[in-house]
This record gives sequence, structure tokens and C-alpha cells, in this order.
Amino acid sequence: MDPIETLRERERRAELGGGEARLQKQHEQGKLTARERMTLLFDPGTFEEVDKLVVHRCRDFGMDAQVIPGDGVVTGHGRVFGRPVYAFAQDFTVFGGSLSETNAAKIVKIMDMAMRIGAPVVGLNDSGGARIQEGVLSLGGYADIFLRNTLASGVVPQISAIMGPCAGGAVYSPAITDFTIMVKRTSYMFVTGPDVIKTVTHEDVTKEALGGAMTHNEKSGVAHFAVEDDRECLMLIRELLSFMPGNNVDEPPRVDTMDPSDREDSTLDTLVPPSPNQPYDMLDLIHTIADDGYFLEVHQHYAKNILVGFARLGGRSVGIVANQPAFLAGTLDIDAAVKGARFVRFCDAFNIPLVTFEDVPGFLPGTVQEYGGIIRHGAKLLYAFAEATVPKVTVITRKAYGGAYCVMASKHIRTDVNFAWPTAEIAVMGAEGAVNILYKREIDKAADPAAMRAAKVAEFREKFANPYVAAEKGFIDEVILPRTTRRRLIQVLGTLESKRDRNPPKKHGNIPL
Ligand code: HXC
Repeated sequence: MDPIETLRERERRAELGGGEARLQKQHEQGKLTARERMTLLFDPGTFEEVDKLVVHRCRDFGMDAQVIPGDGVVTGHGRVFGRPVYAFAQDFTVFGGSLSETNAAKIVKIMDMAMRIGAPVVGLNDSGGARIQEGVLSLGGYADIFLRNTLASGVVPQISAIMGPCAGGAVYSPAITDFTIMVKRTSYMFVTGPDVIKTVTHEDVTKEALGGAMTHNEKSGVAHFAVEDDRECLMLIRELLSFMPGNNVDEPPRVDTMDPSDREDSTLDTLVPPSPNQPYDMLDLIHTIADDGYFLEVHQHYAKNILVGFARLGGRSVGIVANQPAFLAGTLDIDAAVKGARFVRFCDAFNIPLVTFEDVPGFLPGTVQEYGGIIRHGAKLLYAFAEATVPKVTVITRKAYGGAYCVMASKHIRTDVNFAWPTAEIAVMGAEGAVNILYKREIDKAADPAAMRAAKVAEFREKFANPYVAAEKGFIDEVILPRTTRRRLIQVLGTLESKRDRNPPKKHGNIPL
């Protein structure tokens, strides 16, 4: 055959994947094909495929007769908003997207390239897991990928999209990456499926309930985002990438904004309600101060008592961590601490400044939390904030009580600029709790215990429930008018741009896992 025709024929076979019928089935299930996904992920016309002609080496189980160029995974690189990104997309139409020796080698090759170049890696997962016919070669292939995921962690951003099945040990690659996005109704993740569970524990559970998108977004926290379909998933990956640099040495990209950096908003002056126990929505503050009111919330459905996500201030990417008084009064519990810590560490690894909004009455009390290890898990958030060397700015809007004051990026753990609103209350605990401990005997003996308690509470609030004691000590740099928050944050982030700080040399720390 003519050499050009030979090449075309091989490419055509690769592009046809598992054949028209299987491609059609993929569409009928509401899924895009691997190549369609790659096309949408990258800027138009920029996707360059690598290893399109690779085939498997398996000679068993009649595999000789089933050789498809590409072998069930599309790999390559392209541009996302003009910057290089590497990606792989498992092709479910070829042996159910299962991972073979050569299929794994293709993924490993682009991961190694991404590391050398300093570009993010995106994995589009849609696979029946280890290719059964290849046995240990396939398992070894997974382990090769897990090693790359681990070595790349903190060097280049890694994003996993779950766009079909992802089961067994295969789940551990996404778990090591920085962000996991799940497509509702068509994706699931679990270590062991419903059938095995039924046999072992006699539990009846559907795939969706066990490992569907909302299960992992709401209950386990394994996934950070849930989206409606493949298209939304791919657009979200592009957006997420726009907030981060290509690697741990580069800075995040600046994005021009028409939103004035000196914009003030008087509604913030009354955001905090007069009663200390009344909730308000911290999202209102974030939306008010962010460029164009835009906040890309991460882990939106999980541990809602803490908010984390990306925004821009004066065109600069920032990672926002905020207590949410509208949920569990903004207390820190195990899930919130783990959620916050992981996000803080991502931002720190990739030079994204951290802005913390604080209104926290403390750690959530109770046996559930103590038995669950709140001490160890709460320490993760403390550790993450303390070790972070990126620019750190904190704004205390209301409560900063007890240990949570220390944890939430306090001055004492190397935060660069600590602001407080005039409504801030910085104390070892709330006034009621403090008075019950300090004046219990006097109150019990008083002629009118209720009046005495109220007087003591008022006295305590007057003395401690304000930002001025901390400001007098220099633990708060400045008490600012709420309306000026955006302007002040942009100002200080500009100054902090050239910040250089480092931790003592060590192999690695030992964050309390
Ligand atoms: C080889 C596989 C395969 C696999 C699916 N196929 N999984 N081929 N190895 N692991 C093939 C099927 O034979 C079929 O081929 C095609 O892919 C589509 O599969 P269907 O079963 O027809 O599709 P569907 O009904 O949608 O079911 C999808 C599925 C199911 C739920 C993923 O295929 C399934 O349960 N597969 C096995 C999953 C599994 O147990 N994998 C091993 C997990 S352990 P044809 O020719 O008919 O189209 C693991 C260990 C990793 O992965 C360890 C890492 C440390």
C-alpha cells in the first residue's frame, strides 16, 4: 500500500476506537467520546496527539485478533487559554477503556513530559479498570501511574475528571491528584462495587448511592466538584486551570479586570448582625470583594461550615478560606479542617496567595468529634496554615475564639497582614461560656442570678469581645472599615507580591495524617 495511505489507514483505525456501534453507545449514555473530550478541553486546534499508533502486546485470550491503534487511551498535549497542558482520556469503546501495559506507558510518558516542561496534567477517566487479560502487567501499569502522581504532586497541578466507571485500585490515581470532578449520573468511584459489598457485608447499595457524584461530593469529600455533563466538566477544568500556574516555580496568570481596585461597598458595614449568635452568609462578603463578584467554590457540597475556593483580586489569583457562620455557626469540625488544610496546601504549593475570612466560635464539641480524632484532624489545618509561605492575609469579621483563633491564619503562625473589622471579637471563648466559668459561684449566690450573669456578660464583652486588645498588642495590624476590605486586600497583596519566605531545610514535614 502507498506509505501515505498506510499512515492514514492506521490513523483512521485509531480514531474509530472500538467502532461505530460502541461510539454510538457512548453517546446514547450521554457521554462524549475520548477524542471529543480532548477537543473540548483544549483551545481550538491545539491538541497534538502522542502515541496514536501504540498497540497492546498481549498474546493471550485471543487478544492477537483484537489490536486497535491507540489501545484505549488518547494522550497528548495542547493549550488551555494559551498555556501548555498535558492530558489523557481513557477510551471506553476500546476494551472498556481498561488499563493495559502499553496504555499505562502512554499515560506515564505524558506525565513525565509534563513534569519536565512544568505543565499541568489532566486525566479524563472512563475505564473498566485493570485490563483483565494482562494481569500483573496491568496492575504494574497502575502503580507506575501512582508513582508519577505522587512525584508530580506539588510540582505540577493535577486534575482528575471522572466521566464513567472508576473502580478498584484505579481510584487512587484521582485520589492523589489535586482536584477531582465527577459527572452526575454517568460516573462512579468505589474501591469495591455493590456485588462484593453484598457478599461480604450483606449490604444492599446501588452504584449511585455507593460512589456516585453526589455521594463523593457530599458525604466522602473524595470529589471536589459535581457537574451535569461532560461539556460542563471540561469547561470547569479549563476554568480551574486559569487560576493556577503551570508549575510550582511559575506565578499564577494575571487576568485583566474592569472592576476598580478601589471599589468600596457600604453594605459590608452592616453585614455582621448586631447579635453575636445571629448567622450571616460569608459568601456575601466573598462575592462583594472579589473581582466581578466571582468566586469558584471548591468542595461546595462538603463541610459547608468552611468555604474554600478561588477568586481574583485586582486580577491576581487568590485562594480564599473562610468560616461560614450560616452553617454550624462556622465551627471547625473534622471535615472542615481536612477540607481547609488540603486547599491551603494546594495554594501554598502553587504560589497562590491565601486570603482568610474568619468568624469562628471554636472547634465543634462532642464525643463524635473527639472519638473521630478532631485533635489530629484539626491540627492538619493548623499545620497547613503554619507551614504556608505564600502571602497570607486574614480578615477577622466577627468571632475569633480559642484555638480556632490561632489556627485560622493568625499573626502568630506567620500571617503577613491581619486585619479585623470593628465587629471582631477576639477572646479565649464566648462571653456566656467565659462568665459561667469565671463567675459561677458569685452568680449562684447572687440575689438575682440572671441579672448578675447579664451584667458579667456585658462586662466581659466590653473588655474582650472587640479587636482592640489584639490590635494594641500588634496581633492585629489594623482595624479596617468593612466597606474598604476589597481595596485594602488588593493593596497589601500588591505589596506582598515579592514576598520570599521559606521553611527550614528538611526531607519533608510530618503533617498529622
Ligand atoms: C478488559 C474490559 C474490562 C476490563 C470492561 N471490559 N472492563 N476488558 N478488562 N477490566 C470490556 C468488556 O468486556 C466489554 O467488551 C467492554 O469493555 C464494555 O464493557 P461492558 O461490560 O459491556 O460495559 P458496561 O455494561 O457499561 O459495564 C462497565 C463495567 C463492567 C461496569 C466497567 O465492564 C465491569 O464491571 N468491568 C470489570 C470491572 C472490574 O472489575 N475491573 C477490574 C477492577 S480491579 P466488549 O468487547 O463486549 O465491548 C482493578 C485493579 C486496579 O482495576 C488495581 C490498581 C492498583
